[in-house]
Amino acid sequence: MAALRAGRLAVLPTETVYGLGAAAFNPGAVAQVYAVKGRPADHPLIVHLADAGAMDGWVRDVPAYARRLAEHCWPGSLTLVLPRGDRAGLHVTGGQETLAVRVPDHPLALEVLRRFAEGVAAPSANRFGRVSPTAPQHVLDDIGDRLVPGSDVVLDGGPCQVGVESTIVDCTSDSPRLLRPGAVSERRIEAVAGLPLARTASPVRAPGTLPAHYAPRARVVLIEASVASAMAEEAGPPVTPGPPQTGLLALSEVATPDGVVRLSAPRTTDEYAQALYAALREADALHLRVVLAVLPPDAGMGAAVRDRLSRSAAASRSAR
Ligand code: TXA
Ligand code: MG
Repeated sequence: MAALRAGRLAVLPTETVYGLGAAAFNPGAVAQVYAVKGRPADHPLIVHLADAGAMDGWVRDVPAYARRLAEHCWPGSLTLVLPRGDRAGLHVTGGQETLAVRVPDHPLALEVLRRFAEGVAAPSANRFGRVSPTAPQHVLDDIGDRLVPGSDVVLDGGPCQVGVESTIVDCTSDSPRLLRPGAVSERRIEAVAGLPLARTASPVRAPGTLPAHYAPRARVVLIEASVASAMAEEAGPPVTPGPPQTGLLALSEVATPDGVVRLSAPRTTDEYAQALYAALREADALHLRVVLAVLPPDAGMGAAVRDRLSRSAAASRSAR
């Protein structure tokens, strides 16, 4: 992993979204990550490791329930926030006394992490404030012109299988607390941890979970499936000539009204998550003004999709 060793950047595929990686111990390399993303310096990064055994040194005071989560859920879409160890400089934690760590479940990422044998700090490989990239082309569209050809590398691992960012769990207290929903469900966390999730506010600050991070330029409006069906059954409002201005994001069982662009027709909540960010990017590429989104049921990946879409809609509302 010459790029990482040389203090350069490596865009890594993971099963959730693409990450913009740098050697976590190298403040200069990590500074490049912030510069390329345009990310505020107090937003901490996740350090990606090859396996649970590599945690020691990066984090400390790991409670038994957090060890169980690491051992059972890694490689996987779960990030654990723990007190930072000696190896984790403040340049990677955004000045906080905690560090987020994760072992991603992607063969290419794991190969890089094993060969590099050091932690790789990697936020999602998008410009600050844009939706996360789930394909190499999204990365190139967002930050391609900010990478140094011949020095920085973009590894193509195909489209991301999960499609939304990892579940983040604060493990700095006696019980785990959910900071961001993802593919690893609340039920699974409680079952593996052997403890209920604490429902009180976390003492840990998780900047970067702001609504605006999940919003396209188009305005996202949440609607009930019945509204979409009614729109589809009626002949629909007269379609204005010219390019369509409205898109629809919903499970395939919801019909597409006249004059509305179908952005994605996922059959399951898993497919919904996989397609979500590409669909929001497509809405902007088509210069749509509005995206109508029908939330999937709150099962499986549904919780994470509902979380991201609700934030998208909230950001759309507050931007006006
Ligand atoms: O799936 C993922 O988690 C992807 C892939 C690349 O691994 N990464 C990702 O990174 O989504 P990023 O930087 O876009 O989002 C990381 C989130 C941010 O909301 C950040 O505030 C939170 O993790 N975070 C990181 N370190 C933290 C810490 N020490 N305490 C609390 N939150 C932290
Ligand atoms: Mg991000």
